[in-house]
Amino acid sequence: MTLPTPDAWTRVDRYLSEALVGEDTALREAVVDQRAAGLPAIEVAPLTGKFLHLMVRVAGARRVLEIGTLGGYSAIWMARALPEGGSVTTVEAEPRNAAVARGNLARAGVSDRVRIVEGRGSDVLPTLVGDGPFDLVFIDADKESNTVYLDWAARLGRPGTVVIVDNVVRSGEVANPASESPQVHGVRRGLEMLARDPRFDATALQTLDAKGWDGLALAVVV
Ligand code: DHB
Ligand code: MG
Repeated sequence: MTLPTPDAWTRVDRYLSEALVGEDTALREAVVDQRAAGLPAIEVAPLTGKFLHLMVRVAGARRVLEIGTLGGYSAIWMARALPEGGSVTTVEAEPRNAAVARGNLARAGVSDRVRIVEGRGSDVLPTLVGDGPFDLVFIDADKESNTVYLDWAARLGRPGTVVIVDNVVRSGEVANPASESPQVHGVRRGLEMLARDPRFDATALQTLDAKGWDGLALAVVV
């Protein structure tokens, strides 16, 4: 068996992306504009964008909540999966990110379905109680706050709500309890919460893609 060297997994990622994803101009330009504006290159990989899109469809989600908009790349993918009348509410703490996202969402033609709420998640999420229940929640913001975001995902959800958490492997560091990274400890606290909090049933999948070795947690609100 061939080991998944970076060269090999990058080749496979490219092959699968080209075979299955088919990014259009709006998605490609969203990434170009995001880079030009100096935002970090940490948007989800194309295959993960398509995964989120399919999860919205599989769940039949009408109300989607995203925590961490960045430049709007993942919000475009999820907005395109919504049924008539559906919406994405996406929370962003950094005004500069929100401004880039606004342009990207407009070019993708989904501004009518996506609302960006600016502010820190811990401030903004309590204000969204009247907008729920959300059918799918994608958590992709500061990892130190993952337990806070999971708590709000459960409160703003309903039994059956799908919860997806990005970046739960972090190049394998998640399995290192002695890690000195506060992000890794945030991720670990989030996974431990998913395991023990009776409001969730969860698993996690490792990914090797354009962004390297990482992974997604997938949970359902019980
Ligand atoms: C980081 C954050 C992300 O959401 C991501 O997908 C990759 C990296 C980070 O903060 O390092
Ligand atoms: Mg992420």
